[in-house]
Amino acid sequence: MDKSRYKMVFICQQCGKESPKWLGHCPSCQEWNTFVETQVSSSKGVGTLTQIGSPVRELSQITAEEMPRLVLPSAEFNRVLGGGIVPGSLVLISGDPGIGKSTLLLQVSAMIAQQGKKVVYASGEESLYQTRLRADRLGVKGEGLYLLAETDFEVILERMEETSPSLGVIDSIQTVYLRELEGAPGSISQIRECTLRLMQWAKLSAIPLLITGHVTKEGAIAGPKALEHIVDVVLYLEGESFSTYRLLRGVKNRFGSTNEVGIFEMREQGLVEVENPSQVFLSQRSKGAIGSVVAPTLEGTRSLLVEMQALTTTTSFGLPRRTANGIDFNRLLLIIAVLTKRAGLRLSNQDIIVNVVGGLKISEPAADLAVALSIASSFSDKEVDPNLVAVGEVGLSGEVRGVPQLERRLIEAARQGFTRCVGPMVSLSSLTPPQGMELTGVNSLREALRVGLKSKSNM
Ligand SMILES: Nc1ncnc2c1ncn2[C@@H]1O[C@H](COP(=O)(O)OP(=O)(O)OP(=O)(O)O)[C@@H](O)[C@H]1O
Ligand SMILES: [Mg+2]
Ligand SMILES: [Zn+2]
Repeated sequence: MDKSRYKMVFICQQCGKESPKWLGHCPSCQEWNTFVETQVSSSKGVGTLTQIGSPVRELSQITAEEMPRLVLPSAEFNRVLGGGIVPGSLVLISGDPGIGKSTLLLQVSAMIAQQGKKVVYASGEESLYQTRLRADRLGVKGEGLYLLAETDFEVILERMEETSPSLGVIDSIQTVYLRELEGAPGSISQIRECTLRLMQWAKLSAIPLLITGHVTKEGAIAGPKALEHIVDVVLYLEGESFSTYRLLRGVKNRFGSTNEVGIFEMREQGLVEVENPSQVFLSQRSKGAIGSVVAPTLEGTRSLLVEMQALTTTTSFGLPRRTANGIDFNRLLLIIAVLTKRAGLRLSNQDIIVNVVGGLKISEPAADLAVALSIASSFSDKEVDPNLVAVGEVGLSGEVRGVPQLERRLIEAARQGFTRCVGPMVSLSSLTPPQGMELTGVNSLREALRVGLKSKSNM
């Protein structure tokens, strides 16, 4: 083997940061003891993406039609990909073990094969027989779908070259290895080098590749995080273990907007698209419950209605505890502080739990107002109108701030049968409400609590 093509560096196993010397603490992801000495290709080696001697071409001479996207019949999957799979792109699907990555990829492969195109599915994790069993369960037919149970990287690429498919799948990147590299399959040096080469191969052959990577806590197997800066598209398949719902979230996309979310349900016959997600997430809601408020959130370009629940109880011992499930913990602390200081709620001796129903994670501040209302509702034991949705960012001085794309959120709320919305005056005042929707604009959190909480007398 040609040693000069490789050099030794230290790489963080968590985030992939490189350093010429060992570091105890990663300056990039703040983890401790994650640097491992690793063999990587030196800059002029195989890892570079440029074709040596490639000619210059005028931008205007390059047309996008030369290479149409592979469009899938699954609307949810297309949405996350920004309209289909781009030729020559490398897509990483990462997720917890057992979440359904192989299922998703087999289904996608079958969809492409059904269009009369060839797909090579290389599995390093399961035997051909196991894949066949899953295919039977999913009702996948075999025409055009070529399976390969192989972990030797070069053999996989050779087979792909021979078959010249429209799509290549590698399940998973952590099981393949390059013979000439030191390190076991799954080590950072292996997964990095293999991914770099896949990237190069995909670009030169114009064949798109989907690879999976499972998230690892710690240990010898390096996580997909370290690959995110290399690949074109990163999708996370997420879900709580207790729930059958799966979210496919775009985290990085060189060819489309990120933060798009596809929503699926894991059934016996595989991942099935959820057609009306708001309805699903609200279906078990008991109307008129105390401490429950619905927020029209935005996931990518889609509005999704989610239920926020809060429970406050008097602290019985020591410091009050705060628990946030599905929202950012610091955001919860901020909202509690503003409720205490600007709206006069005495929460300092209260344990507070906030939960987003259905195992969803909401990161946008537009959900602040619904969280604040649900806490206030539980604390004061007052009901919130079950036909009301609340939206708005809460500022430190107790003001309710504007949110983006309010119109889209209101249309979804109206579609799900909600009739009232409390939200920021600045955004609501310039809007024409959807049919049957009454808008109440507020400037402050105090005002929002006054209009949002039903007093006991009129219940
Ligand atoms: N008969 C079945 N009915 C319903 N769901 C099933 C059935 N068999 C398997 N599943 C679901 O499929 C999941 C496993 O899917 P899959 O093997 O695609 O996951 P994975 O992410 O590829 O896992 P790994 O990390 O082990 O490769 C199980 O956790 C389970 O939820
Ligand atoms: Mg799998
Ligand atoms: Zn790091």
